[in-house]
Amino acid sequence: MELTAKNNKKIRNTVILIGTALILITVIRLNYPLLQQSPSLSSYKEYSSVVHAGRDIKLTNNQEECDIFTGEWVRNTDAPYYTNKTCWAIHEHQNCMKYGRPDSDFLKWKWKPDGCELPVMNPYQFLDMARDKTIAFVGDSVGRNQMQSMICLLSRVEYPIDVSPTTDEHFKRWTYVNYNFTLAYFWTPFLVRSDERDSDGPTHTGIFNLYLDEFDESWTSEIDEFDYVILNAGHWFTRTAVYYENRRIVGCRFCQIPNITDLPMTYGYRRVFRTALRAINGRKNFNGVVFLRTFAPSHFENGMWNEGGNCLRRRPYRSNETILEGLNLDFYMIQLEEFRAAQREGKKKFRLLDTTQAMLLRPDGHPSRYGHWPEEKVTLYNDCVHWCLPGPIDSWADFLAHMLKMEARKTSTERPFQRQKKMH
Ligand SMILES: *[C@@H]1O[C@H](CO)[C@@H](O)[C@H](O)[C@H]1NC(C)=O
Ligand SMILES: *[C@@H]1O[C@H](CO)[C@@H](O)[C@H](O)[C@H]1NC(C)=O
Ligand SMILES: *[C@@H]1O[C@H](CO)[C@@H](O)[C@H](O)[C@H]1NC(C)=O
Ligand SMILES: *[C@@H]1O[C@H](CO)[C@@H](O)[C@H](O)[C@H]1NC(C)=O
Repeated sequence: MELTAKNNKKIRNTVILIGTALILITVIRLNYPLLQQSPSLSSYKEYSSVVHAGRDIKLTNNQEECDIFTGEWVRNTDAPYYTNKTCWAIHEHQNCMKYGRPDSDFLKWKWKPDGCELPVMNPYQFLDMARDKTIAFVGDSVGRNQMQSMICLLSRVEYPIDVSPTTDEHFKRWTYVNYNFTLAYFWTPFLVRSDERDSDGPTHTGIFNLYLDEFDESWTSEIDEFDYVILNAGHWFTRTAVYYENRRIVGCRFCQIPNITDLPMTYGYRRVFRTALRAINGRKNFNGVVFLRTFAPSHFENGMWNEGGNCLRRRPYRSNETILEGLNLDFYMIQLEEFRAAQREGKKKFRLLDTTQAMLLRPDGHPSRYGHWPEEKVTLYNDCVHWCLPGPIDSWADFLAHMLKMEARKTSTERPFQRQKKMH
């Protein structure tokens, strides 16, 4: 989602979508206080078993049988690897130091998987690996947050040049000339075709029409040339929306329109991932690898966004201090299920960039009120959705570097095989 201070409408929209989510979560908690314990326990079991089962999905075909996505945050005195002075690519609203964030402890951590070491991304090695390659970030502004983190981390070696096809900030393209390596950003917060049906609606945030079974061709028709596509979506699904399938209304999420059945936001969420992955499976000329980047939870506490809700923790959680539950768990499970279904089709290479658990443990990594000046009238005063740069999202580069290494290893072990076949 966009959070440009000058663009108040977008901010208002963003805020309300987060607000709506929180309203719902709060309502559910208030209405069912007695249920709080038991779903958590069963959810946790379910979650652990999913993660466990996920192991063979994530890292098959390689010697290092380690689930890099289950672990803890540990001290790293070497971080951060850039500052707001050395990197110009930091988005205003994630430039926390500029806006006076007083603490810096949140910068001093790295992710440590339970069974192995995950090396901190080496920018020289990464760029060597990425030579002549292209990576697309497809999804919402958390995807842009990840791309800008990559640009800052790699800026120790080189800055890319802007080769964007248009001036539209929703579709950016950057090239590292010395490496012939290209990064692109496609903004598609719903992943499917959508439009705004009503700019007001019951929450005064607009109602969106989501065509759950139709491709958003602004990205689906553009991905053939990419070696890697990193797909994400999540925070926009808390908005009010009318759901279409087969060009007919099948229901909506909190649209308050007579005769339209209310459906949970998970209904839309599941179907858009199904459609997005189907679009990819259907691209004859796409031979790249798709990384489904799993949902990164927000961390509002002590109230909703407009009731002083905020993310004030100054330390990561240990893995035994919190669990994935509620909407976070629902979104994560849906992503896993749709990922598996797409993988079963067997047509394309799908990988899980499973950031959910690591980010669940980082309530300290959001801009909170340090994404703008104190006197600035931004409606999302406390941003507990995006991530400060530098900050914990920099660790996604460690995951990505590891996964690209694994891909390279796979290709190098596959190649002699193909040659042998051809020789016979
Ligand atoms: C960077 O952050 C410092 C505070 O650490 C601030 O004074 C400065 O204005 C910021 N610079 C930029 C370019 O954002
Ligand atoms: C740059 O990379 C692309 C693939 O992304 C390749 O087709 C092209 O030949 C490369 N250009 C040079 C000059 O090596
Ligand atoms: C709702 O459905 C009823 C029964 O099908 C119909 O009579 C009525 O006109 C519908 N109302 C709207 C606003 O479409
Ligand atoms: C979590 O684990 C740590 C280290 O094993 C331990 O010191 C701590 O007491 C545990 N906390 C909880 C809430 O169980």
